[in-house]
Amino acid sequence: MSNILITGVGSYLPKKVISNNELPVNLDTNDEWIKKRTGIRQRHLVTEGELTSTMAIAAAKKALQNANIDNKDIDLIIVATTTPDKTFPATAVMVQSELNIGIGPAFDIQAVCAGFIYALNVGSSLLKTSNFSKALIIGSESFSKILDWSDRSTSVLFGDGAGAFILEKSNENSEWGILSSNFYSNGNFSDILHTDGGPSLNSQVGKVRMNGKEVFKHAVEKLSSCLIEAMYSANLKIQDIDFLVPHQANLRIIEALSKKLDIPINKIINTVDVHANTSAASIPLAFDNALENRKIKNGDIIALNAIGGGLSWGASIIKYGKPD
Ligand code: ACO
Repeated sequence: MSNILITGVGSYLPKKVISNNELPVNLDTNDEWIKKRTGIRQRHLVTEGELTSTMAIAAAKKALQNANIDNKDIDLIIVATTTPDKTFPATAVMVQSELNIGIGPAFDIQAVCAGFIYALNVGSSLLKTSNFSKALIIGSESFSKILDWSDRSTSVLFGDGAGAFILEKSNENSEWGILSSNFYSNGNFSDILHTDGGPSLNSQVGKVRMNGKEVFKHAVEKLSSCLIEAMYSANLKIQDIDFLVPHQANLRIIEALSKKLDIPINKIINTVDVHANTSAASIPLAFDNALENRKIKNGDIIALNAIGGGLSWGASIIKYGKPD
């Protein structure tokens, strides 16, 4: 049985940083409310020339470099995004073309904030069942483009950015790489977090609409249950986790998870204060940040979990890196 290793990580953040105090004056919000209810202090926002594809490409380049592999060795590209440059073609083919990657499959996955977990699951399953050996998995979002900047209950929560993992198949049967994973959706909750537009509905891109209290409730419950299930499948205990890298939606959700799962808060990577919620990009962005800050090391047991519109959610347990 082959293992799927995570051998490279990269990320990209737009240069423009907007603190809570720099948000549009007509929003009727303030730094104190945002920090207290969400933990967010600032967000990065795309400017002229920065697109979901260009951020994806920048994150991918860094991940390829980090894994020390050649672009032409990539067999498969998946981009998790809800904010593609165009309705079609997929952002993944733009990455493929720009990086001169060969003609293996390149496609997008749309599972909003759970997109990266979905892409990881689909990518690793495809590697296991094909003769492909290396995949580029990206989460990239220009979420600021689908925000209603007159709605203070949603616009203060999000930011833009991208992150990427390199997955490599290993036939050494070691206990490294993706140890377990799961993903779920329940469309009965689609109305609590959605956009009010789309190509078939009204030819508009649509803006984010959300019932924050409902989302919050589901987030804590579902992020906990999928993580417990993934730990059980990996035959590990909560105490075996070196770090949890959760989707970065809200510090209060992270604190509630810490309490419910009895994971010390210093074992949970938190970048929501500086990145805000970057949807499908949030996990690889937080992961790369933790690598840069020398928190996550080769061989650490890392739990990932995410939830987003759909509702869609899921978790993965990995032993990061590869044997020396
Ligand atoms: N600034 C100031 N006041 C605000 C703001 C704001 N930005 N937004 C809302 N308010 C006001 C409301 O109008 C309300 O005023 P009222 O009491 O006069 O009616 C008051 O603050 C309380 O509003 P609530 O919605 O009850 O506040 P709550 O404590 O639930 O916090 C929040 C709102 C932060 C959205 C919270 O519900 C939440 O985090 N939910 C999770 C949603 C989430 O993270 N979504 C991201 C996408 S999904 C995902 O990634 C998991």
